[in-house]
Amino acid sequence: MAILSYVCGMSVAPTPLHRITVSQIRARKNARSKLVCLTAQSAPMARLLDPYCDILLVGDSVAMTLYGMETTHTVRLSMMIEHAKAVMRASKRACVVVDMPFATCHESPALAFRHASRVIAETGANAVKIEGGQEIAPTIAFLVKHHIPVMGHVGLMPQALSALGGYHTQGADPRSAQKIVQDAQAIAQAGAFACVIEATYQHVADQITQTIAIPTIGIGASPQCDGQILVTDDMLGLCQQFSPKFLKRYANLAETIEAAVQNYADDVRQGRFPAAEHCSTHKDHRAPLPIKKHPIKNND
Ligand code: KIV
Repeated sequence: MAILSYVCGMSVAPTPLHRITVSQIRARKNARSKLVCLTAQSAPMARLLDPYCDILLVGDSVAMTLYGMETTHTVRLSMMIEHAKAVMRASKRACVVVDMPFATCHESPALAFRHASRVIAETGANAVKIEGGQEIAPTIAFLVKHHIPVMGHVGLMPQALSALGGYHTQGADPRSAQKIVQDAQAIAQAGAFACVIEATYQHVADQITQTIAIPTIGIGASPQCDGQILVTDDMLGLCQQFSPKFLKRYANLAETIEAAVQNYADDVRQGRFPAAEHCSTHKDHRAPLPIKKHPIKNND
């Protein structure tokens, strides 16, 4: 059952009474309404995104967006678990998927199970995402058989960046294009419930979407995919350094934050903040701290 809600005149997604399940995501293959997916790594962001998204991905892009690391290679399982817990606490409708970090799934299916089951048990998230193609398919089959839902990730796989020779669109020649298609087919056959296709040519992504039975979620792929995902910090303009062709910026939060901080610094230096209204006097003694919602002032 769904209740259609409207906020500020803009429609938000129908609110299910429970969190969206992986079976509901899988059932959206070829649906008219595309899957809306974004990354979320903190509680405040998850709270803001949750009403609008079908999937919140706790992506290992947290390495760059929050920690200032150069690649995703240095992300540890324990970090992903803490970020996933924060996202789970602050969301109630979206299906939450957690990235398995570099080198946690490729040694053996048993080790992958140990790591992935920790993520699910400690966070309560719906599923894990694993980068890889044909070579990881037996591991995906093992996890799915043992009740761990898996989302695949093919095309440009940031965890394989050094092997891929940098951040380039994948599948330029027919052989590498065919490999990406076969990768996606292998993980779909292994039982993944959805598959991210990152940074490949439109015709390659379309061939995948047409030939696999699970939803495809594109990032730098094709509008024909069953859904789309972007890294939230990139699309909000928080991270300005990363600007690939496929990125559409929907806001420029870096500029907004900079202006607000400049305003604050001026106020403090000029003695305008705190003002009387922000200070307690003796008569406030023992009164509970009044929490007032301040309107956000413009920057002029
Ligand atoms: O880690 C991440 O944010 C991702 C997205 C790019 C899909 O894997």
